[in-house]
Amino acid sequence: MIRRTVLVLVAALAVTSLTVQAGSTPHRAKLGMVITQSDIASQIGFQVIKNGGNAIDAVVATGFALAVTHPTAGNIGGGGFIVYRPAKGEPVSYDFREVGPSRSSPEMWLKDGKYDFETHHNSHLSVGVPGTVAGLHMAWKEAGSKPWKELVQPAIGLARDGFEISHGLARSLAGTLDEFKKYPASLAQFSKNGTPYQAGEILKQPDLARTLTRIADQGPAGFYEGETAALIEKEMKANGGLITMGDLKAYQAKKRGVVNGTYRGYDVYGMPPPSSGGMAVVQMLNVLEGFDLKANGYGSAQNIHLTAEAMRRAFADRARYLGDPDFEKDIPLPMLISKDYATGLRKTINPNKASKSVVNKFEWTSESPETTHLSIVDANRNAVAMTYTLEYGYGSRIVVPGAGFLLNNEMGDFNAGPGLTDERGLVGTNPNLARPGKRMLSSMAPTIIAKDGQLFMVTGTPGGRTIINTVLTTILNVIDYGMNAQEAVDAGRMHHQWLPDRINLERYGFSADTIKMLQSMGHTVNEGGGQGAAQVIVFNQKDNMLEGGVDRRPADGGAAGK
Ligand code: DON
Repeated sequence: MIRRTVLVLVAALAVTSLTVQAGSTPHRAKLGMVITQSDIASQIGFQVIKNGGNAIDAVVATGFALAVTHPTAGNIGGGGFIVYRPAKGEPVSYDFREVGPSRSSPEMWLKDGKYDFETHHNSHLSVGVPGTVAGLHMAWKEAGSKPWKELVQPAIGLARDGFEISHGLARSLAGTLDEFKKYPASLAQFSKNGTPYQAGEILKQPDLARTLTRIADQGPAGFYEGETAALIEKEMKANGGLITMGDLKAYQAKKRGVVNGTYRGYDVYGMPPPSSGGMAVVQMLNVLEGFDLKANGYGSAQNIHLTAEAMRRAFADRARYLGDPDFEKDIPLPMLISKDYATGLRKTINPNKASKSVVNKFEWTSESPETTHLSIVDANRNAVAMTYTLEYGYGSRIVVPGAGFLLNNEMGDFNAGPGLTDERGLVGTNPNLARPGKRMLSSMAPTIIAKDGQLFMVTGTPGGRTIINTVLTTILNVIDYGMNAQEAVDAGRMHHQWLPDRINLERYGFSADTIKMLQSMGHTVNEGGGQGAAQVIVFNQKDNMLEGGVDRRPADGGAAGK
């Protein structure tokens, strides 16, 4: 009892020294809003809404524009997920995750019988069959209202005529120069013959403009067949890659349902497998619903502890159960997101003491923190959350010669190989082994929340496995702690992923007293740099106003709306 009183007291002190930027004003707009990691792309998306287009039209135009202006993660050579909640009708998701080529196998990362990290993450074998063009087209075909060609057009103009390089992009391109040097087409596209671009200079990508023109004219066939497909196959054949024209032609995006949960009277719609995002976010919310987070207070050691314990459990389940549902038929998704299951998990949480993660039962492969998320709401309050990625920043760093776009290295999200789980973090569990046509497990968590049948919030972020926890905390910040969209994005972030068994806290986001309390509960605490790049829109139903929170952690990004 004395110990508990001390904890509560120190927590109260800790709250007073937090560095949350209370009072940050969100961007406000009535007609519609688009938030992305590139100002130029946000403006293009909002222009579509201004011209009478809907949120799906806007995500198509914005998605293609980001492939030009945010080459770090915006893409046509990668994949991702859209969660779509129309103002009228049922929420759905579009899954355009990459798949393993037809000659992939669980053992494909072994070299002379030994696991080879470079092959897995940094080679032509690390490239999955891309899904983005098929996914955007599927969403547009079902719910778009503007002509396809009109939506791809702005990206073509940006690639052909060029756009001004921001300070953030200049820095990022310069930082990746050595990687681009391995691939002549990449070096040619993203530097001036080996000299880095400076901020303010114009980046033109003529090959990309031609590929986008084929996509504008022919739809997915402009990417998955004909010249573009032939160029991809040629690059693969010349460098030991596996993707064939047959693999490209066979690629199918998939329409799926959503993971549907509730949290304190709100409806939550997340991405189902092959992403773990929806399951993990809903499970953590179910666990946390049983605690009075609001009374404990934002940033209290008590709440950080409880939230970390919810995270620990969701990540263990992620590693144990999840993979591509078209291959893994026994994923117990309904159980994992049920309130009863969460009640059981909650009972295993000691409010004053850290649990221990049991090492070497379930682990997972490494995921990079380079992806991008966009949140869109249109005039009718149709909402789109899309997260898509090349996996690493600039993916495999391989630009397809003559086609002008970067290929992903998403195959790195498959497990290392059968039976390879070891103490150092290699993973060999079955549900996420590479196979032909199989989607690799993801953490991306585009999420939409509704209240009383109306839109309430759109959220998502990049950040590898931290995605799941950043999305969770943006939701808690708004619903439990009453923050506005910008405050919810600004607030210090935390992460626990079961293994390694530690809490990561953003530096300057939490007080030294709070950290001491967490340590006294038995947690290992690690302070680090920024986590993710969340883009949050909250719909203020009372004022019919969209309120946007733009993440200032990455160098670029912005909200467009009026
Ligand atoms: O799908 C995934 O979970 C990872 N490939 C995402 C990588 C990622 O988030 C990079 N993000 N910033």
